[in-house]
Amino acid sequence: MCGIVGMIANENVCEVLLKGLERLEYRGYDSAGIYLANQEERSLVKAQGPIKTLTQKITPTMNGTVGIGHTRWATHGIPSEANAHPHRSEHGKVVLVHNGVIENYQELKATYLKETKLIGETDTEVIVNVIEHFIETEGLDVKAAFKKVLTEIKGSYAFALIDPTDPTHFYAAKHKSPLLIGCGTNFHLVGSDALAMIHQTNELIELQDGEFVTLTTDSIQIETLDGKTIQRAPFRAQIDNDSIDKGTYPFYMLKEIEEQPLVMRRLQQKYLAPSGESLISDTLIQKIAASDRLYIVACGTSYHAGLAAKTTLERWTNIPVEVHVASEFGYHMPLLTAKPFFIFLSQSGETADSRQVLVKINQQNLPSLTITNVPGSTLAREANDALLLEAGPEIAVASTKAYTAQITLLTILADAVARQKGLVEQLPKNLSQALSLVEEQMTQIVEEKEIIHQIVNDFLPTTRNAFFIGRGIDYAVALEAALKLKEISYIQAEGFAAGELKHGTIALIETGTPVIGLITDDATASHTRGNLEEVRSRGAKTIVLTKKSLAQTTDRFILPDAPDYLMSLIAILPLQLLAYYASFERGYDVDKPRNLAKSVTVE
Ligand code: F6R
Repeated sequence: MCGIVGMIANENVCEVLLKGLERLEYRGYDSAGIYLANQEERSLVKAQGPIKTLTQKITPTMNGTVGIGHTRWATHGIPSEANAHPHRSEHGKVVLVHNGVIENYQELKATYLKETKLIGETDTEVIVNVIEHFIETEGLDVKAAFKKVLTEIKGSYAFALIDPTDPTHFYAAKHKSPLLIGCGTNFHLVGSDALAMIHQTNELIELQDGEFVTLTTDSIQIETLDGKTIQRAPFRAQIDNDSIDKGTYPFYMLKEIEEQPLVMRRLQQKYLAPSGESLISDTLIQKIAASDRLYIVACGTSYHAGLAAKTTLERWTNIPVEVHVASEFGYHMPLLTAKPFFIFLSQSGETADSRQVLVKINQQNLPSLTITNVPGSTLAREANDALLLEAGPEIAVASTKAYTAQITLLTILADAVARQKGLVEQLPKNLSQALSLVEEQMTQIVEEKEIIHQIVNDFLPTTRNAFFIGRGIDYAVALEAALKLKEISYIQAEGFAAGELKHGTIALIETGTPVIGLITDDATASHTRGNLEEVRSRGAKTIVLTKKSLAQTTDRFILPDAPDYLMSLIAILPLQLLAYYASFERGYDVDKPRNLAKSVTVE
């Protein structure tokens, strides 16, 4: 949610900042801006819309040896140039970018800014002016004024600040929103994530909550707000610069869908021995095995991954599993069992809704594990244990490979816990081999993607709504398929339990409404086919996705046969492609759907 990049160097930083902003665009793309300064000149450029609109406004003569850039996902105030960051204070003493939400900005404004003329509606503009207020009224220098404001702020922030009169220093601070420092020879950077800086350096330092940093071209001084110096060694980010390029793909989403077989391989290699034995730490497995209930907490697609994995976890481990939407769970917590174990699923590891639950769980000293794609992310750091999805950077806003990686890792975990408890009867002989099969089947589905493209052309070109129905795990997959379709194609899509449709929702079926039936469950296949007949006789256009052993001649997409516990991994692929082509055919920016951002760091 919003992306920040900043740099101080001995040469012009403009290009590096723009490249960083492009890499951060997945975090928000309502508007963007850049501020550059050197001893002689200063430039502030902002644009409503994506980074390319900003780039078009940059002239070749713009120059700065220190600079900050920002890409925004609006929280306070509409997307507009006035609300775009960087924000310059009224008298130009300081320039600021911000990611996060300042909860008490109205109070700060009422207390300190009675005389100040604000241009936009953002909390950030209030903060930059309060800093200037302290400089002007209390005679503080920029650093002291910035620190003083930080002690008065309630909320979350990653800030980067420039004093236009002193391009040799650069300031940043963080609380609850992510911020990393990038280290180089004769330059330093800050960025919301490693992607923003990896084209310059992979030597990074993590800034922690409540810390403040002063950067020059050759020094890094980290301190707490009360002035205690912190020494922290850099770590090397394991991100391959090539893995964040689109290559020849028109959109990241298609690339990421097609990477799923590779992710299956990486998960096998990291977490399973060739014999099928788990390589996850015994201590973690023992902790899970000792629990009397698993609480999976997540949002959106990650929540759907939890739903898809629940059956396997319960069947194999014999531990009941509850899957909860994080934003609901934290404030309306159900009665917990005596020995709960919490699993947080989060691609980004930064989701504020999930984090607020983890904070409460930690206050009660309850055991937790985060499963995430981002090493060192907030949820990974703050849970007792963390396991990585190994999916590689996921840049398209619509999550695809992280979803299948989450289900896979939960399946590996279920297998390990069941073995720990001696419950081996229902387990596959060798999970590693089973995942190799999934890898092959996913590759086969990707090769058949034109069949899905044709289905989109036949059934979805102009529709305003669509339904996905299924039973059991197919229902969980139907929920995810509907989310994918609605978020990138803006078709109003809903996933339903097939049997539930007739209890109300069937009233929405009109002539031509597409209803996509997902049928991979032997026990309920005939029931779902019956439900499809019910909607067809009311005018719906039905499309069946099924597996080979259940296929009938009119079915449109045939999945390979696989054991039940792997079916969700295979079944979602054509449905991700369906959403992709629906968005593509409507001419949308598939990777950057409207109103959304990749990393949702506000509640
Ligand atoms: C949808 C999507 C979102 C995320 C949700 C949680 O394609 O990506 O629904 O799944 O915002 O994000 P994470 O997994 O980062 O916690």
